[in-house]
Amino acid sequence: MTDNAPGQTAAARHDKLEKLFRIFRLPRTEFDLWDKTYVDGDAKRRIFNAIAMMPITRAVRRQVGGRREIIILHGPPGTGKSRLARAGANGFAQWVPRPDADGVLLLQASVSKWVSGLLGDSQKTVEDAFESVRLLLNFQPVVLVIDEIESIATNRSNLSAGDPTDVHRFVNALLTGIDALDGRCDMLLIATSNQEGMIDPAFLDRASHKIRIGYSGRNAARAILRDQARAYRTAGIEISDTVINALVEELYCDAHAQPQLSGRDLSDLLHLAMTQYSTLRPGVAQLVSIAREQLRRNSNGQT
Ligand SMILES: Nc1ncnc2c1ncn2[C@@H]1O[C@H](COP(=O)(O)OP(=O)(O)OP(=O)(O)O)[C@@H](O)[C@H]1O
Ligand SMILES: [Mg+2]
Repeated sequence: MTDNAPGQTAAARHDKLEKLFRIFRLPRTEFDLWDKTYVDGDAKRRIFNAIAMMPITRAVRRQVGGRREIIILHGPPGTGKSRLARAGANGFAQWVPRPDADGVLLLQASVSKWVSGLLGDSQKTVEDAFESVRLLLNFQPVVLVIDEIESIATNRSNLSAGDPTDVHRFVNALLTGIDALDGRCDMLLIATSNQEGMIDPAFLDRASHKIRIGYSGRNAARAILRDQARAYRTAGIEISDTVINALVEELYCDAHAQPQLSGRDLSDLLHLAMTQYSTLRPGVAQLVSIAREQLRRNSNGQT
């Protein structure tokens, strides 16, 4: 592996690492988003438990085997998967007790670059990426976050005969890279996807936790909208809780059919209404109208 080649400078290795990943030292205040990410149901509890249990899970696994520490967050676009991955990574640096005070590194994979060929041979790029993770683990704990995992762990059974064999090769490189990390302490992989059906079963099978993050339920929607309103309030723009509550009641009036609104849709709602209606005080009817547009768009499968 070239990274280990004698003569290669630390600067060159660092350069390469920065091409493969966005790198952050954790914990980091801007990723302290756990309490500000609202998901109805038990998804957050499951992620928290998976991370908090890691020291015990590992100790047991070392003796009797078992799946790796891989969490897959899947669900529709804009529901907060990447945000939870970052917040969970930040939590890993804070919740899991460790004897040394060194920080944790978050490596956020730039997968579009990995597979585009921009960095050269894609298979080699995936191999290099995992080799870099292995090297870094000698020095400190690492959380590897891979968004849009389906673009590197592509379901090989969906490929037609005409598809490049390259895809098969880099899926294999990914699986081999993951297997080689097995048994390493202080390593967590969080992958996200809004196309779960496109993920290769061999990768899915390696994941210890597959957690669905769905559209926002009533409580999550109210909390997201209230946070938005609070942020506008700090900018001197008043959007009352009465308006937010009335909007939520209107959108979630059917107890049997939850609207397909994502956290991203809800976060954008006030801003869209203000710009569309040229007002800093959008009314409930205007907000509902924007939300209905978003619902139409989501049901047509547009992003
Ligand atoms: N559950 C949520 N709670 C609070 N804010 C949210 C939530 N979901 C989404 N958002 C808002 O929408 C933005 C986009 O969320 P994020 O990028 O995490 O979605 P995603 O599920 O990863 O989407 P995609 O599948 O398109 O990658 C967030 O930065 C945040 O502002
Ligand atoms: Mg995402």
